[in-house]
Amino acid sequence: MSDPEIHIERVPPEVTRPLRQRLLMGHRTLAELEASDGTYPEAAYFVAMQGDEIIATASARQEAPPWSPHGHRPWRIRGVVTVDRLRRQGLATQLVDAVLAHVRRQRGDFVWCNVRTSAIGFYESLGLKVRTAVWQDPDTGPHVSVGMRLREEGNSQEDELSSAYSGLKQV
Ligand SMILES: CC(C)(COP(=O)(O)OP(=O)(O)OC[C@H]1O[C@@H](n2cnc3c(N)ncnc32)[C@H](O)[C@@H]1OP(=O)(O)O)[C@@H](O)C(=O)NCCC(=O)NCCS
Repeated sequence: MSDPEIHIERVPPEVTRPLRQRLLMGHRTLAELEASDGTYPEAAYFVAMQGDEIIATASARQEAPPWSPHGHRPWRIRGVVTVDRLRRQGLATQLVDAVLAHVRRQRGDFVWCNVRTSAIGFYESLGLKVRTAVWQDPDTGPHVSVGMRLREEGNSQEDELSSAYSGLKQV
């Protein structure tokens, strides 16, 4: 029998936590993940589902980057992860695409993320650029911050697009 079809859904934050805990934050309890998610009514959490199984997730909330007051309306991308067996098939790209569509609808103009250095290639493939030196997270190893300016679609004054998404720009 063939695998069930994959689809993307917007979900409440708690739906994303077991996968994030299993693959990203094994050192944290679900209650700690809930605390770090906090209360951000404008935040959006997305999952990719295959049948009943959650196979990937990504989210974003309104939050300024710590390293500079760069964007006027910055959003932070968080908790991006795909199960091992389905990596390099475009799932995380589709989820971040859903996240970016949400940020645009909310008039966000900058996205950033703290990322493991092993994932830099993924974020660069979306047009985000490294913004900081490498630092060590005591639990999850070497990290950098990446970021990308978002501009409105259809602005003819923009430079050539540098990401796969129509209308997205780097600073
Ligand atoms: C990073 C991660 C989320 C990418 O998920 P994915 O579903 O495999 O990503 P995609 O298939 O959408 O990748 C799109 C592009 O990103 C780039 N990319 C993805 N993973 C990469 C990697 N490990 N190294 C370098 N480039 C990578 C590639 O250009 C890829 O396109 P290609 O497969 O045609 O070459 C996944 O590897 C993962 O879950 N890693 C562990 C958790 C993690 O580090 N998450 C980031 C939080 S900091």
